[in-house]
Order: sequence, then structure tokens, then C-alpha cells
Amino acid sequence: MNLFATLEQAYQTAQAALEAAGDTSALEAWYADTLGRKGAITLQVRSVGQLPAEERPAFGKRVNEIKQALEAAYAARAEAIKQAELTRELEAGAVDVTLPGRPVPLGHLHLTTQTLRQIYTIFARMGFEVYDAPDVELESYNFDLLNIPEYHPARDMWDTFWMQQIHNSPTRLLLRTHTSPGQMRAMRERYPEPIRVILPGKCYRYEQITARSEHQFYQVEGLAVGKRITMTDLIGTLTQFAAMFYGPGHKMRVRSSYFPFTEPSIEMDMDCILCGGKGCRVCKYTGWLEIAGAGMVHPVVLKNGGYDPDEWSGFAFGFGVERPAMLKYNVSDIRYFYGNDLRFLRQF
Ligand code: PHE
Repeated sequence: MNLFATLEQAYQTAQAALEAAGDTSALEAWYADTLGRKGAITLQVRSVGQLPAEERPAFGKRVNEIKQALEAAYAARAEAIKQAELTRELEAGAVDVTLPGRPVPLGHLHLTTQTLRQIYTIFARMGFEVYDAPDVELESYNFDLLNIPEYHPARDMWDTFWMQQIHNSPTRLLLRTHTSPGQMRAMRERYPEPIRVILPGKCYRYEQITARSEHQFYQVEGLAVGKRITMTDLIGTLTQFAAMFYGPGHKMRVRSSYFPFTEPSIEMDMDCILCGGKGCRVCKYTGWLEIAGAGMVHPVVLKNGGYDPDEWSGFAFGFGVERPAMLKYNVSDIRYFYGNDLRFLRQF
């Protein structure tokens, strides 16, 4: 066959094969078979020796034209295949924005936080503001200034977590065992203004953990200081609180008690919300539940706070937060509060 015709045929075959190459690997194979060192077109150059001398330049020129045309066609095809492959990849990984989303679980406030907020609301309506005091306290604020000097037997009422001593600091640090040191902070900051605050916060006691007591728990302290504050104001305030927190119609009673920082000291009881006063396991068959420890601010404490006890008087009270929440929401074990079990926490 005429070598020119063979060449043209090889060209046509190569073009058809290029059209048929559908992906990168087929394209690479085509290149090796066509324009590679042993490719069909490359090999055509060798047959130039079989031609008469005068035909050789024309043949050579045609081979070069074909080579260039095929190189260009190869480049174009390579680009097209790359685009097609990219498009395919993008389509495979595409996000279907019409699919419904996965639900994000919503959290909510902890039972303690909910209870604290109810308490804030009730006292806010009686004119009390929330006053913040630190968890890590000076020994003097937690004890001495509250009329509980070292070696006073009343210190045994509060088993204490002590902080490690820093430097040679003259006063020791501890985790507050009650919110009462906040009374001193409020008085020293507010003097000579009258005071009406509640002091919520976490307290810490070095005690055995049981179903009824944790070694960390919340208290809410109350403090009112003014010119003519009496025990009646205290009893009225706590009675009003109980009615708003537990609901109206409860019987209240006052017992005398002892705290070093109040004089006289009382404890407020309410008829048991579970048995209505008949006596049950929760009220230990007394019919009564203790609501708060309280009393008139001791003259020594007023003086330590900067207020002259001949001119000023005040009342203070303190109660836990988890126990009222347990009564109200029928929780049988205080350890559930901070056990991090969502099955418990989600119920409220
Ligand atoms: N701080 C006392 C306690 O933790 C409670 C209390 C507060 C009593 C204020 C009287 C007045 O037990």
C-alpha cells in the first residue's frame, strides 16, 4: 500500500481511538500507543527510508503535521476528561440541601438553677437584691467576724475544707461552710446604707455524703439591716417566702435555736408538704419540716460590719436549696443533683 495512504489511515485510527478514550488511564494508554517512543505515528517516521528521495520531504512534513495535530487534540481531550471527572466527583459528593437535618439536642437549666431563679424572683418581689460573695473565704469572714472565734465549740457545726496556706499569709483560707460570711461583705461594703439582700452560693462541708447531705450544696442567705427591723419582719418574710415557694395555706411555726451570729436565734418550720402534718418518713413523723435557720443579727456581728447596734438592727436567715427542691419535685436522693446522669436531669 502507498505509504502516504498508510500514514493517513494510522492518523484516522489514532483520531478515532482518541475520541473513544473515556478517562485519564485510557488517555495515557492512547498516548503511549500513538505518540510514545513505540507509538503508531512515531513508527511511521521510520518508513521514510522506503520512499524515493524526492518524496521524503513531503512525507516528513506530513508526519510532523499529524504529530502536532494529535498533540493538540490530546491536550484538548485531556482537559475535557479532567473537567468531566471533576464534575463527576462533585456530583457524587454533593450535599442534598432538601434532606431534613439531624436534630441538635437542646439542653436546659439544671434543677438547682431553676430553683435558685424561683427563689430570686420571690425575694425580688419583696425588695431583696442578689448579692454575690466568694466561695473561697478568709477564715475571719467565715468564722471570727461572725462571732465564732477559734476554739469556740460552735465551729464544730461546720466541718471545714481548708485551702493550702499561701506564703505566710496571716489569715487562713477555706471553702465557705455557709453563705453567712457574705453578710459581713455586704455590710462592710454598704455601710451606712440600709441593706436588703439575698446571698446565694455554693457551700462546702467536710462531711459524709448520704441521701440527704452532699459535701457541696447551695444555700441562700438573707440579710436585712435597718433602723427599726424586728423579729416580726423576719417571720413575715419567711412566711411569705414559704407561701410563694410551696404554695399558700401552710401552717408555720417558730422554734428557738442557737447560732453564734444571731441573737435571738430561731428555726422556722412548715407543716410537712407530703403528709400535711400527719407524720411521715420525710418529716420523721413530726409533721414539720425545717425551712430556715434565722435570727436577729448579733450586736457583735453588726459592729464588725460597721453598724452601731444601738442605732441599727437586722435579721438574717439561711437555708439550703437542694432540699426544698427535693420536697417540691419529689426527689428521693440529693446525690442525683450532681451525679451528671442525664436521665435524672432531663426530668425537670
Ligand atoms: N449559716 C447558718 C447555717 O449554715 C444558717 C443561718 C444563716 C442561721 C443566717 C442564721 C442566720 O447553718
